[in-house]
Parts: sequence; C-alpha cells; structure tokens
Amino acid sequence: MSAMKSFIDDLMNKMSLDEKIGQLNLVAPGGFTNTGPETTKNVSEKIRAGQVGGMFGFWGVQNVKPWQDIAVKETRLGIPLIFGLDVIHGHQTVFPIPLALSCTWDMALIEKSARIAAVETAADGVNWVFSPMVDICRDPRWGRIAEGAGEDPYLGSKVAHAMVHGYQAGDLSKPDTVMACVKHFALYGAADGGRDYNTVDMSRIKMFEYYLPPYRAAIDAGAGSIMTAFNEVDGVPCSGNKWLLTDLLRHEWGFDGFVVTDFTSINEMSAHGMGDLQTVSALAANAGVDMDMVGEGFVRTLKSSIQEGRVKTEAVDAACRRILEAKQALGLFDDPFRYCSGKSVEKILSPEHRAAAREMAAKSCVLLKNDRQLLPLKTSATIALIGPLANDRKNMPGTWAVAGDWQKCVTLLEGMQPRAKVLHAKGANITNSKEWAERLAIYGNNRIDIDARDPSDMIREAVEIASKADVIVAAVGEAQEMSGEGASRSDIGIPPDQRPLLEALKETGKPLVLVVFAGRPLTLEWQHANADAMLLVWFGGTEAGNGIADVLFGEVNPAAKLTATFPRNVGQIPIYYNHKNTGRPYLAAGGYEDKFKSRYLDVVNEPLYPFGHGLSYTSFEYGPVKLDKAEVEGDGRLTASVTIRNTGKYAGEEIVQLYITDPVASVTRPVKELRGFEKIMLKPDESREVSFVITVEQLKFFNSALEHVWEPGEFLIHIGSSSAAVQSAKVVWNK
Ligand code: BGC
Repeated sequence: MSAMKSFIDDLMNKMSLDEKIGQLNLVAPGGFTNTGPETTKNVSEKIRAGQVGGMFGFWGVQNVKPWQDIAVKETRLGIPLIFGLDVIHGHQTVFPIPLALSCTWDMALIEKSARIAAVETAADGVNWVFSPMVDICRDPRWGRIAEGAGEDPYLGSKVAHAMVHGYQAGDLSKPDTVMACVKHFALYGAADGGRDYNTVDMSRIKMFEYYLPPYRAAIDAGAGSIMTAFNEVDGVPCSGNKWLLTDLLRHEWGFDGFVVTDFTSINEMSAHGMGDLQTVSALAANAGVDMDMVGEGFVRTLKSSIQEGRVKTEAVDAACRRILEAKQALGLFDDPFRYCSGKSVEKILSPEHRAAAREMAAKSCVLLKNDRQLLPLKTSATIALIGPLANDRKNMPGTWAVAGDWQKCVTLLEGMQPRAKVLHAKGANITNSKEWAERLAIYGNNRIDIDARDPSDMIREAVEIASKADVIVAAVGEAQEMSGEGASRSDIGIPPDQRPLLEALKETGKPLVLVVFAGRPLTLEWQHANADAMLLVWFGGTEAGNGIADVLFGEVNPAAKLTATFPRNVGQIPIYYNHKNTGRPYLAAGGYEDKFKSRYLDVVNEPLYPFGHGLSYTSFEYGPVKLDKAEVEGDGRLTASVTIRNTGKYAGEEIVQLYITDPVASVTRPVKELRGFEKIMLKPDESREVSFVITVEQLKFFNSALEHVWEPGEFLIHIGSSSAAVQSAKVVWNK
C-alpha cells in the first residue's frame, strides 16, 4: 500500500460522516470577485465546524493565511483547505485573452503563460486554478469564446496539454506549481444560439469528434481536477450526468482526479427540472461529483440522503478521498502554509513577467489585411491615433482577469508615443449608451467612460487632428466585458456608435489603419471594405499597448493566425472550417448558378476570414505538396513535405498548416481537418522544406458505433497558410 493511501486511510478512519461531507464543500466568501448570484455566509464558523473543504475567489497571502489558520488550528482534525481562483490568462501579470494566445499556435509560449501564472498564483497563496478552459466553440455570439482556444479540436487539444503542463509542471509538490482544473465538462461552448448557460443538444459523433478531445487531452496531460458545465448533455445537466462524469470520464478515460461543479450548478438543476435540492444533490453525488461549488447542496442534504438510502456512504467516501488526495499531492498535509511563505511575491509583475506579457501581446496580433503594405508604420510619419480604445487602460486586461489591476496596464498611446510623432483624439465612445455601460460594469467597476461632449464634437476634433497626419490609426472595437461570461451578443459587430467616426475618418482620404480590440470574432465586412489595413489585437493584458506598438512599427512581424472563423454576418453562424459537405454543395468557383444548392440568397457561404488566416509583413510562397509515396500500407508512415520561401522584405514567422480529407468513409467526414502544424522563421529569400509525418492516428475518426477507427482508401493531404489556402496531393492508404 502506498504511503499516500495509508495516510489517507488513517485520516478517513478518524473522520465522521459530517466531516467527510464537509470536505466536499467549496465556499466563496466574496469580497473580491463573485461570478454567481451568491456568496457563502458565516465562513469562519463553517470552517471551524469542519464543513468546508476549500475556498476560492481571492488571493494574497494576507487573505489566504487567516482561513488556513482556522482550518489547521481550530478544527478537530486540522485538515488544510485548498484555495482556488480563476486564473485564466495570467494572474497579476495579465497575458492576452486565451483566444488571442491560441492564435500564436506557439505551444511553448502558451505553456510559458501558464507557468508564469502558476508562479505568481502560488506566490499569492493560491494552489488551484480554474483553468484551462478548453470548450470548443463554433458560435462567436457566445462571449466565453474569449476564454478558449477557438473552434478546432486538434489545436485545442495541444493548447489544453500545454496549459496543464505550464500550471502543474509534472510535479504538484513543487512550491511554484498549482493544480489545474479543466473546464467546463462538457460541451459548454455549444450553447444554443450562443446564449450563455443555454441548452446543448448534439449527436455522440459530433461530441466525440469535435468537442470532447481537448478535455481528454487535458486529462491525459495529468490535470488534477475538472469542473462540470452548466449545460445539459443528452438531456441531463452535466452536474448530475453519470454517463459523463463516471462512465466516460472515469471508466473510459481513466481520470483519477476530482470533479468540482461550476458555481451553484447542483442547485441550478432544480431550475432545469430535476427536482428539489435534496434530489439534485443526490443526483450529483451519484453521478460522480466530488465537490460542490458554493451551492451547499451537499452539506445541507447528503447526510439525510445517506440515511434514506438515496446515496451510498461509499460515494461520499470516494469523493472525500479524492479531495484529500489532491491536498496530499499539493503537499498541504506536509505544510498547509507552503503557499503562504510570501517568499516569491517579488516575482509578481516582475520585469521578466512583463517582458513575457509584451511578447505574448505582440505575438497574438493577427494581421487581417494590409493593402499596399501600409503597415508597418514609419517612425518618420506623423500618426493620428484616434478612437475610444486609443488611450484606454480599463479595458486592456480583457475578460476574466480577476487579479489583474487595469491601472498597471499600458495603453496603446503610451506604447506608440515614444516611437513616432503621435497626435491623439478619442473621436467616439465605445458606446454612447449609459445603460449598456452599466450593464457591463463588473464588480462595480465601470469600464466604459462616456465622454461628456456631444459625439459630433468628438468626431470634428478627430477629423481635424487626422488632417494634420500622414496616416490614421483608429483603435476601435469591443469593451472587455462585451465578451466573457454572461456576455453573449446577437450583433457581433463593432458597437455601432463607433461607425460615424470611422466613416468620417474614411472620408478624409488619408490611409486608414484599424486596430481592432475584440474578445470574439466580429463581423467586419464594412471595415474590411473601407480600411487599408487591419490589425486584430484582441485584449492583450498588462503590456497590451507596448506589444501592439511593437507590431505596428514592425519590431515584431505579425505571424498569428485565426483559431476561429470570422463570419460575414450573424446569419452565417454557426460557421467553421471543418464543416461537412452537403449533398448539394454550392461551388461558387465552378460558376453554376443553380437554385437548388446549399447556399444563402443574400450572402456567400464563405466566411470573411477563414480559420488559419493571418498575414505577415513579408510574403511566403508555398511549393507543391510532395509525398514520399503514392501508396501506404497499414501501419506505415507517410511523409508530406512542402518548400516555403520568404519572398518579401522582412524576416518573418509562418505557421504551416497540415489538413487531411477523407473523401469516402462509412460516416460523413468534414471537408478538411487540421492534423498538424509547424511555426517556422524565414529570413528574406530563405526557403525551407517542412515535413509532416502522417500515420493512421491522423486518419482516425469516430464511426457510428463510436469506435475510433480509420478506413482504408484515398486521402487528400493539404498543406498551406490557412484552411482556405492550401496545396493538395492524393495518397492511397491500404489496410
Ligand atoms: C464560471 C467558471 C468559474 C466559476 C468560479 C463560474 O461562473 O462558469 O468558469 O471558474 O464561476 O468563479
């Protein structure tokens, strides 16, 4: 018997049923952030009574230690608490939002973001992070698309793996590692209509093929915990779904960490129509939930359910054991205060961490358009920097930056000013609507400053300033709280009050660069048609302004590529690159204007910007795809290569993407699927051959029996610079 098991056996032998149930209770005292409708009352008394297993929603040794003191010194068994926090894209040093970071396709950089976040979080007393969020999303109306890695399961799985490694570094007993909590299990990103918390309904094939892989990847990477989702799966809310939490997660995937619910999601099952608090709490316990976040359904009702035979003591024992094991893995039984030494606090917001944040902010900028090579800007030019986000600090962190202090963020104006002559005017408000601004005020902080001036006066001033400049840079887009939790939008354009400003700037006839701040894919058709260049900067975090300026002035050559499709209008949603063919495909390029084809009458089928799109200041030329064989036998390997040449003036990075199509199979397959990628750096005129080794692993899919199989036949191998710009070759793969 392992030392860990016998230690926990001994401890559990001493625990009463109430104390065991107490370990399953996760409480939020409030005061810092609060994402749900409630906070927990009388927390110290509850800890003393052995009714609390963990706490979350705050940070700082001075805030954590007093609670741990009570748990360790004033309870019968002195069991330490686990402390959680939403550390989503950095801790006090804020990195770009996860969707932005995913656009770097740079797993080392993404892992580094989680590593640094872990170092800062651990220094701040917290040992458990509610991250990574790995929900695949094909609907940009859903505000939480900002928190994930976009629409693709292959890329999403790589990101999930990198994040877990960054947080846990393969050894939770180290003082600077924290336990990851993968979320939200499962399918949360597929909420109907993109409306947060809404119903999800999908086929098993779709689930297994497109939505489940990133959760699995995070678990295979060793994530210590997982959070349930608010939505239902197959008609049963996730927090009460035994198929999901036990059959799939534990039995099929072998997960041995612990399962925590999302905020009050056990209680919310009553609203879903699953019964009263005792019934839904029993449902959750029997389904495989170990820890109850905030709702206290477990502490209030599990004992009665056990007495009435509705829940077995074994279920409580198993849950309690898993939570104690997590605490043991974090070294909390050896030293409950190991995260409270205060020793490493100087690492928080250190110059090194800020430098990393700046690099990440720059490397997540996606160059959407760059006519006549307008970017990079010349330092000799006079630049008119105009727009509601030009000198904005409050919105730089982006959604879910709970420990990030916006006052420490760098604005775009501050980033640009040291490098060129920059004239500035605000020009417009993010929105003129006070009501909207209030709705978006989170934790009492209003992030939208509405100017006292009349909007037309602001435009007049902006146009006058623009007339003195060689080039206009317009910083426009969303406010940070327009994406994230509870921030779904039915119109995903740049807020309309910014349009008159853009129209007036366009009318000046000056070269117009748009710098677009966003937490989701936006509809940018007008902007695409009217701007000369467009740089998508998302929300870049603490160093946003410096990182964006690095790109605008060409110190960093943009290389990021979109990880979520940008629709032309909301009516095209859901729109994603790995869609299936219809029986009546509309081939615009083929030129047949047939009525009975799968298309819209009022918009083309293609998105504005496809998955994988992103330009560079230089240009790359792709040679043909070469395969080392025309036929492959069974377990053989195929090497697909392409030569890429930098044909432009700047050194630059390119993300080379490999897609595969399986044109004939026993179930319908997508038109193409990402199966590999590599980021390479090329100097001007330099060329390099990039090779991908393909095995049957990359050909596998879930068939009607939900077996993960490959079927012999012909395959198309595509390599290119985006999902819509590829070169292809054919191979036959025999049994
Ligand atoms: C969110 C989770 C988060 C939790 C705790 C919930 O509302 O859905 O992502 O981890 O709150 O703050």
